[in-house]
Amino acid sequence: MFSKIPRVKLSNLPTPLEPADKLAFHLGLEKLLIKRDDLTGLAFGGNKARKLEFELAQAIAGGYDSVITVGAQQSNHARMTAAAACKLGLDVKLVLGGKDFAEIKGNLLLDTMFGAEIRYINGSNEDEDLATLQHAWRDELAAQGKKPYVLPLGGSTPYGTLGYVKAMEELAGQTGNERVHIFTPVSSCGTLAGVALGASLFIPNAEVTGISVSRKNDEIREITKELQLGAAALLGVSEAFIFEKYNLYDNYFEEYAKPVKIAREAADDCARLEGLIFDQVYTAKAMAGLFDLARTGALRKDVPVIFIHTGGMPEVFSGTLLCEDYPNITKLTPDEVRRLRK
Ligand SMILES: Cc1ncc(COP(=O)(O)O)c(C=O)c1O
Repeated sequence: MFSKIPRVKLSNLPTPLEPADKLAFHLGLEKLLIKRDDLTGLAFGGNKARKLEFELAQAIAGGYDSVITVGAQQSNHARMTAAAACKLGLDVKLVLGGKDFAEIKGNLLLDTMFGAEIRYINGSNEDEDLATLQHAWRDELAAQGKKPYVLPLGGSTPYGTLGYVKAMEELAGQTGNERVHIFTPVSSCGTLAGVALGASLFIPNAEVTGISVSRKNDEIREITKELQLGAAALLGVSEAFIFEKYNLYDNYFEEYAKPVKIAREAADDCARLEGLIFDQVYTAKAMAGLFDLARTGALRKDVPVIFIHTGGMPEVFSGTLLCEDYPNITKLTPDEVRRLRK
């Protein structure tokens, strides 16, 4: 099915499917497995590596010399695109938006290490503003005789969607015919679209749940359908495989990237029970959704839950925690240590 579609290797696949038994017990589930796409391996890993394998293959096949993409200041997609571009010998240009570009940390720090040229909109994260600047930059480069490849927000295009259709083929090989319930965070929708279409093709009895971190349900359903249609056309599979009966929740975030208490609590529980790290923008919010649905009895306990850990690791290093805000830390002065020595 995928053999005729160009793809470049950017990730270490298959990613592990790991049991999280203590977390399952904590949530009253019989079985919980984590699909470790945080370990895809490209520049701290994450879901975007799978999408970029198909997307940047188009840039290479088309003879493009650079890639321009867009995202928020702490965009994982921008960071992974920059890394992939370096690996493939393409120049990288990033249009980023958001508040406060004074400090370079987390994903933004990595962008600079990859030598990305960055233009930013200080104060706006609006998709339209980012796209306007992206297209203007493309025209500017084209006028200089260059050939930039325009990659939309989150890499969520029909080609990008194929990354998660293929991921479901991989998952089917790990789960067999077992009935499963797959959870994923949702933002620009390419991951959900790939999971939905891929599950319909390779894991037909799977239930799928998306937890939004940035958009309302109606918009997600619309974008996800378009992406599934585009990906199905590329694969040459019937539209009958488009899967729209997934569950969708848009009540576990307030505003994109804004921290919420339930996500912090879920991330702390996962870290303390399983040694797993979840970021506050995407994966911890999706995990908070899973926590809530498990605890309120909305999930069938006997169906194994598979949570796709979509990455986001560098975001964890973009914030600051003050020592006085963390109760489990004891400060000793050198004098106190000297006294103990006696
Ligand atoms: C860590 C992480 N998880 C989940 C997502 C959501 O994936 P999608 O944009 O395909 O909906 C993103 C997208 O930026 C991400 O960076």
